[in-house]
Amino acid sequence: MTQTSPTIRVDQHGGAESMHLVDLPVGDPGPGEIRIRHHACGLNFIDIYQRSGVYPMPMPLALGMEGAGIVEAVGSGVTHLKVGDRAAYASTPPGSYCRLRVMPAKCVVKLPEVIGFETGAAMMLKGLTAQYLLRKTLPQGGLRAGDFVLFHAAAGGVGLIACQWARSLGLQLIGTAGSDEKCALAREHGAAFTINYRSEDFAARVREITGGAGVKVVYDSVGKDTWDKSLDCLRPFGLMASFGNASGVVPPFAVGTLGAKGSLYVTRQTLFTHIATREATQAMADELFAVVASGAVKIRIDQHYALKDVAQAHRDMEARKTTGCSVLLP
Ligand SMILES: NC(=O)c1ccc[n+]([C@@H]2O[C@H](COP(=O)([O-])OP(=O)(O)OC[C@H]3O[C@@H](n4cnc5c(N)ncnc54)[C@H](OP(=O)(O)O)[C@@H]3O)[C@@H](O)[C@H]2O)c1
Repeated sequence: MTQTSPTIRVDQHGGAESMHLVDLPVGDPGPGEIRIRHHACGLNFIDIYQRSGVYPMPMPLALGMEGAGIVEAVGSGVTHLKVGDRAAYASTPPGSYCRLRVMPAKCVVKLPEVIGFETGAAMMLKGLTAQYLLRKTLPQGGLRAGDFVLFHAAAGGVGLIACQWARSLGLQLIGTAGSDEKCALAREHGAAFTINYRSEDFAARVREITGGAGVKVVYDSVGKDTWDKSLDCLRPFGLMASFGNASGVVPPFAVGTLGAKGSLYVTRQTLFTHIATREATQAMADELFAVVASGAVKIRIDQHYALKDVAQAHRDMEARKTTGCSVLLP
């Protein structure tokens, strides 16, 4: 008998109201696939880009890139998962805003017993992102204990994980956030310094904090609003690591600017290049599970929503009302 699952679908790019709850048939997994029954699904800013069309997507589109639950069926050729396993993922194709789905097994990993389903659903996309940023997206010569880095939106989902992870590496993370309360939260989670970038000139403050030297890396997911000033925060040969566009897409820029501002490097990173193979995904997940299991990084879930209330979740994220991670309960 074919099962069905409540699923959030978008038929046309648009605002939060363009998401609909539909009941979709869910079949058996094909070769290389599994069927997973979610206990929780993660909410991410990328879901907003895909819904709105900032990242154009084929329609109709089942949204959502992160989840955790129990493996219910396994297709041929899948050897690393079996029926009954607790599992979690951050993965393409989208479609995690649902109770039950069939998906490629490649990006799904076993979830350690010590990590709950909600935590697993909240942390995979955001935690693997913090992992590749702080561990692999590095300036020439790498990062050492004591080095300064600037991390925008430090009180958000990726942000609070990055604050804690940076502290555990001995880095001095300067975090920006959109209110004094959010700044306090980032400091509680390990940011060495914070700047309210709605009320302060963050480039001037970074110069002050670093004694005029600047930081070795800027991790920038805010995009349009922070791009120019972020370049002014870097020391010579510093790395501008762009990884998002919460305020809008970074406009084209003159490459000569990088020379004039101190022979800077620029990269635009995306998680999905890093997790292209099962081996790479597992290695990154192992590192993430280790920092969470040790308590060095705590996954803070500040918002829970029922699947039917997904429009409210998106509105809250877009209005900068959220802190830490958000999950959907299917
Ligand atoms: N490239 C990748 O591999 C990758 C992977 C994961 C996430 N990301 C990016 O990383 C960022 C964080 O993701 P997340 O899911 O954890 O979201 P989040 O940080 O919880 O939410 C985004 C935050 O961006 C800040 N922001 C600044 N200007 C904004 C604006 N005009 N509108 C809305 N928000 C604004 C807000 O914090 P303040 O109020 O404190 O400014 C907001 O809370 C996103 O840009 C996301 O796309 C990229």
